[in-house]
Amino acid sequence: MAKKAQVIDGTAIAAAMRAELKDEAAALAKRKIVPGLAVVLVGENPASQVYVRMKKKGCAEVGVQSFSHQLPTTCSEKRLLDLIAKLNGDPRVHGILVQLPLPKHIGEAKVISAIDPAKDVDGFHPVNVGRMLTGDPSFLPCTPAGCQALLMRSGFNPAGQHVVIVGRSNIVGKPLAAILMQKAPGADATVTVCHSRTHNLAAITRSADILIAAIGVPGFVKADMVRPGAVVIDVGVNRVDDPSTEKGYKLVGDVDYDAVAKKAAAITPVPGGVGPMTIAMLLKNTIESAKNHNCARL
Ligand code: GUN
Repeated sequence: MAKKAQVIDGTAIAAAMRAELKDEAAALAKRKIVPGLAVVLVGENPASQVYVRMKKKGCAEVGVQSFSHQLPTTCSEKRLLDLIAKLNGDPRVHGILVQLPLPKHIGEAKVISAIDPAKDVDGFHPVNVGRMLTGDPSFLPCTPAGCQALLMRSGFNPAGQHVVIVGRSNIVGKPLAAILMQKAPGADATVTVCHSRTHNLAAITRSADILIAAIGVPGFVKADMVRPGAVVIDVGVNRVDDPSTEKGYKLVGDVDYDAVAKKAAAITPVPGGVGPMTIAMLLKNTIESAKNHNCARL
């Protein structure tokens, strides 16, 4: 019988990270510095509501103060921009997170650009994106940084490895490629980015030492797309109907988990893989920002 893959436990690794961050926040609190994160949610997207709730829960656990701002779906772009301007000037707020996606009538790029880059703990502001690409210090986007931390903390250093990323979003695929191709510890990978228009996709994914699925299609990566012994990271979080559950749906990733687990050396589950790491990285960025804003007192 085929050997089953090692399951990379993102829940446990993220819990260990939060414990470290809690110690850091406690050390800052002794100096009367309380890291603060403003969480802005526009509208009632159910998935976004869950993410925001989990982000606030993470803040409470590690000792980061969170400030919630819930705006209606009909809220004007100006109202959101005015709120961001206020948060940019609020000394209690070290990080500003505007949960995406935004309603269609609001310009996402305009909103992201309005956030003070020094408070952009999502790492989405063009200044931070540019700094990430050149390898200058910046806030790294939380999901890609979480994938990197997950690999490193489970003993899979990407240095010299062929990393194939399936998906080219601004939130995951593109920044993950930028992070892993850097000449830096935890990076130094040879990176290939594939997407919906890629020819011979399976041939490319089969050449991956580390395969990262971030395309947003449930079960997209099948066993015949994976090299035996590869490490597989599943970034997908897809709701699929399941009448047997209380909620009527279940969460599945972008990887056909059961079949791929028989072939891979290691694999992340969904839920319990990358998701908890995203939140841990957000808390890390917020604490980092609090330190940056108080460097004269440290
Ligand atoms: N929507 C999905 N992922 C993210 C994220 O990492 N940050 C924000 N702000 N919105 C998201």
